[in-house]
Amino acid sequence: MPISYNEGTRCFHLTCSDFSYVIRLAAGRYPLHAHWGAPLRQIRDDLLGRLSPYTDETFSLNELPLDRLPQECPVYGTADYRPGMLGVRHPDGTGALDLQVSGWRIFSGRAELPGLPGALGDGAETLELTLKDALSGLTVGLYYTLYADCGILSRSARITNGGAEPQMLTRALSCCVDFEGGDFRFLTLSGSWARERGIVLRPLVPGMQGTASLRGASSHQGSPFMALLAPDASETSGEVYGMALCYSGNYLAETDVDQDGNPRALLGIHPEGFAWLLAPGESFCTPEAYLCYAPDGLRGMSRRFHRFVRRQITRGPWAASPRPLLINNWEGTYFHFDEDKLLSIAGAAKQTGIDLFVLDDGWFGRRNDDHSSLGDWTDDLSKLPEGLAGLSRRIHGMGMKFGLWVEPEMISPDSELYRTHPDWCVHAGQSPRTESRFQLVLDLTRPEVRDAMAEQICAALQRGNVDYVKWDMNRNITQAGSACLPPERMGEFFHRYILGLYDMVSRITARFPDVLFESCAGGGGRYDLGMMCYMPQAWTSDDTDAWERCRIQYGTSLVFPPSCMGAHVSAVPNHQTGRITPLETRAAVAMGGTYGYELDPESLSAGELETITRLNERVRAWQDVLLYGDFLRLVSPFEGTDCAWMSVSPDRRRAAVTCVFTLARPNHKPGLLRLAGLDPALDYRMEDGRVFGGDELMARGLPLDAVTGDFQSRQFFLTAL
Ligand code: GLA
Repeated sequence: MPISYNEGTRCFHLTCSDFSYVIRLAAGRYPLHAHWGAPLRQIRDDLLGRLSPYTDETFSLNELPLDRLPQECPVYGTADYRPGMLGVRHPDGTGALDLQVSGWRIFSGRAELPGLPGALGDGAETLELTLKDALSGLTVGLYYTLYADCGILSRSARITNGGAEPQMLTRALSCCVDFEGGDFRFLTLSGSWARERGIVLRPLVPGMQGTASLRGASSHQGSPFMALLAPDASETSGEVYGMALCYSGNYLAETDVDQDGNPRALLGIHPEGFAWLLAPGESFCTPEAYLCYAPDGLRGMSRRFHRFVRRQITRGPWAASPRPLLINNWEGTYFHFDEDKLLSIAGAAKQTGIDLFVLDDGWFGRRNDDHSSLGDWTDDLSKLPEGLAGLSRRIHGMGMKFGLWVEPEMISPDSELYRTHPDWCVHAGQSPRTESRFQLVLDLTRPEVRDAMAEQICAALQRGNVDYVKWDMNRNITQAGSACLPPERMGEFFHRYILGLYDMVSRITARFPDVLFESCAGGGGRYDLGMMCYMPQAWTSDDTDAWERCRIQYGTSLVFPPSCMGAHVSAVPNHQTGRITPLETRAAVAMGGTYGYELDPESLSAGELETITRLNERVRAWQDVLLYGDFLRLVSPFEGTDCAWMSVSPDRRRAAVTCVFTLARPNHKPGLLRLAGLDPALDYRMEDGRVFGGDELMARGLPLDAVTGDFQSRQFFLTAL
């Protein structure tokens, strides 16, 4: 039994081959956190006994120093002075809660969280622990869903007002984990636009540390993820505790190290500005948080997250299929194109073996720059004489697929939509509002706004007979507010926006079940597991510079597999950095994700087009390994100047290895690159005919030859004999 209850020890034990998670009921009523880590047979430790003179029998919430006990669902305002998981304001303005376990059940699958994305739940088992505050009637369902085959535990909560009075929820995080001791280091992913998800590792010291977003999206600046690393943990060994949230809006991922040196880890919707009115009978569900214990370092954590993302998060016909090789016209033309130009880009791309032409921004309204037309999803006939339908027909006629860029959540003040519905944008009363990229955000908390936009977008996708959609979102929310929410519900705005987004996305993706959707937010500004439940790939960053992308993709790979990462070859000098890198290096880096191009092929030489043709053949031949194999980081660009990674097929018979070097060094003796994940008993042949043993490649390494020139790369494709 993966989940069981032991009456003698009063412990719930959730276990699989990778970990155990144990909850102990103190006095049969209070859920204490007893263990998360290596699998255990059982726990005999009496957590209360350690805090003499308390015993299970004498325990009473009123007198116990909760502050020093590890808890499953702490609430601030009790004798626990640390930040809690839940917070509430009763009608009298106070917030005390005495949550006691009132029941539990174990069931197959996962708990439905209405309106929220989540894992599929296939093969999973769930413990639901119900806690009740007798005075207010508030109940809390704590869900623990075990994905034994992936080594992941999912946590979420449902808070229900079972009383007669309204209750205001002021804090509703998805989980709290109280660690006992452990001299941890704290890892987060931080950055900015074009510099997303850089790895930041720091000591965990007393007090609070964390990462958060208050932008209305999971953001370029942070990622709803954190990891605690044991002192000896590294890429390849040691204990790592990873926690990732399935959510696309404001989040908080925080640790608070207490007076005894015990870290509390909290993850969920950010409480800042959050207040949710629960009328009698109403419930609030938190997003799912995924907990991953890895005894085998960051690599082990990523292996488990990748497997989980592939099996339980991404779904639909594209989740496990070869992805089309695409060309996107954005960096090739920006807004300046007409149909002839698009067709010649597509024609040249087709010659090299590219399958999908994607028309980016600028095809609708009067959009010749970013000053207008968002919200007017009508074809610009001055650029496309027969509209999307005509262009799509011609692209399909070439034997290519047709893809389209849309930004459904936005409205330009200079648009027909705005002139008709000026109140449809997010705004806070008469307060001056901030425009960003000359646009405003549509108020997706309003059903009529969602309906109207879904109708327009669906009509465009229908008209264009599209095979692929790039769903963009290019600004964050300021002066948050809706014309339609009453004052006592305005604190619900940010979460209602995300629920509205999920509603709209799920309806549109369901209408076009065979279309491949890629999410985007000015690059990787909303790159999270929530969006990944609807769209199996996301544009990783607007930064297409090969060297910068090494860092961005390396950091992203902590949680996400390559099949989630949009990665394109662009022109040089690179538009974001001005850097010139070899075409092969740009391609090698793009092979670390869902492969494509972002350039004008007509500006390339015949030699470059030939190279691209060869590279496309290679991607096609190796895509199954590159996208769906086990992904292993080898050399970190955050620790030195070079970067290397590899992917190995599930049967370990094929592997693709990529190394990227930064600046060439004179008189440099090339070294050996130690590989991983191969079968030590097999011999592997490389494309140049050399043969090495799997044992040799992992214990000694792959011999590298000397490189001359900056930003060179090497790729090795290994096949078992
Ligand atoms: C965002 C995207 C880009 C491109 C532009 C178009 O910045 O990230 O890839 O689509 O919008 O305006």
